[in-house]
Amino acid sequence: MASTIVKPQWSFGGVDCRRYVGPQPPPSAKSSSLRAASRGQPSRRLLVVRASENRNDSVKKLGMTDAECEAAVVAGNVPEAPPVPPAPAAPAGTPVVPLLPLSRRPRRNRRSPALRSAFQETSLSPANFVYPLFIHEGEEDTPIGAMPGCYRLGWRHGLVEEVAKARDVGVNSIVLFPKVPDALKSPTGDEAYNDNGLVPRTIRLLKDKYPDLVIYTDVALDPYSSDGHDGIVREDGVIMNDETVHQLCKQAVSQARAGADVVSPSDMMDGRVGAIRAALDAEGFHHVSIMSYTAKYASSFYGPFREALDSNPRFGDKKTYQMNPTNYREALIETREDESEGADILLVKPGLPYLDIIRLLRDNSPLPIAAYQVSGEYSMIKAGGVLKMIDEEKVMMESLMCLRRAGADIILTYFALQAARCLCGEKR
Ligand code: PBG
Repeated sequence: MASTIVKPQWSFGGVDCRRYVGPQPPPSAKSSSLRAASRGQPSRRLLVVRASENRNDSVKKLGMTDAECEAAVVAGNVPEAPPVPPAPAAPAGTPVVPLLPLSRRPRRNRRSPALRSAFQETSLSPANFVYPLFIHEGEEDTPIGAMPGCYRLGWRHGLVEEVAKARDVGVNSIVLFPKVPDALKSPTGDEAYNDNGLVPRTIRLLKDKYPDLVIYTDVALDPYSSDGHDGIVREDGVIMNDETVHQLCKQAVSQARAGADVVSPSDMMDGRVGAIRAALDAEGFHHVSIMSYTAKYASSFYGPFREALDSNPRFGDKKTYQMNPTNYREALIETREDESEGADILLVKPGLPYLDIIRLLRDNSPLPIAAYQVSGEYSMIKAGGVLKMIDEEKVMMESLMCLRRAGADIILTYFALQAARCLCGEKR
């Protein structure tokens, strides 16, 4: 099993993200105490033994005892040390001005890499990432035009290899999105709960190979709906709420039966979290978590994703169920509902344009918060990088760090592998 434990760190702001600044013992401590620890002996005992050894021996080698050194300084024979370096010169023409009378100069705490990393408030680790992966029935990995670097992965091979690569750099959580053949789509999306469908089959394969992999699934009808909507569409175009929730419960149970760890309703129907919780519990899946898409906005940033799955709504838009991007307070209504219905994790989507919503949920709920850096956000950074308009890697790391700073515990991001490699000091 290819899995490495990594303790990466990334220093934010100008510092090379490949520099590893993890804890390192000072050179002198490396010797006997560490070796003793690795043999399973308590290192403290060894240190005590060392302390009771004949201390004067080692000191005497340097020439004088401590007492002799002190006496020399008291007598005025102060040993030499390098002089204070001269003040660095300013360029010619620099105006000579009186110092501003400032009691606080915040730049003092930013003046060296060591100080900056000491006072860094936010950290980023591969353990924070959930890697969204597109799968299909084919054997080949098909590139997704609107998402450079992303593929529809063959469920049997390409996917398994991608998961191995992610685990190698500490990303052990994935979320699956299936591309379903048109012939299996229907108005009621029944393929969503076929126990032998693409998603349940893939979960079983992955759990067989990597039992400790954390698998998130998407709960919504859109990949299975002939209408391309997240729910069942009535003749007059209305998305039927309670009937859709009935289907979603079956879908979630089918995913749990296959071995999913976290089911994630992204459909935005009312009451689905409570209904799914009850359905899971009734089937004995009380250990399966629910990550609710609490504040999912009707966003144009989903465009590349819909191309990837060929899941564009056949008509209309998703504005009667996904939230209005103008709304802030409404996210609190969804938060209260999801909390009381038993959600384990609350998700905000999209990510970067909705940092205020992430912070709102963070400040109003003790539950873990997830942010989804969606396809459009990913593609914009990729495109800007390809066109050499921005530094792709630095903008990628900054955007992820900002999602964490806003209050996200975990981040669903197509950059998961690339960013984790950067954090681990690998470059490709
Ligand atoms: C649909 C779903 C969507 C995404 C995740 N789940 C698209 C949509 O709501 O139309 C978008 C993810 C992305 O854009 O990266 N259940």
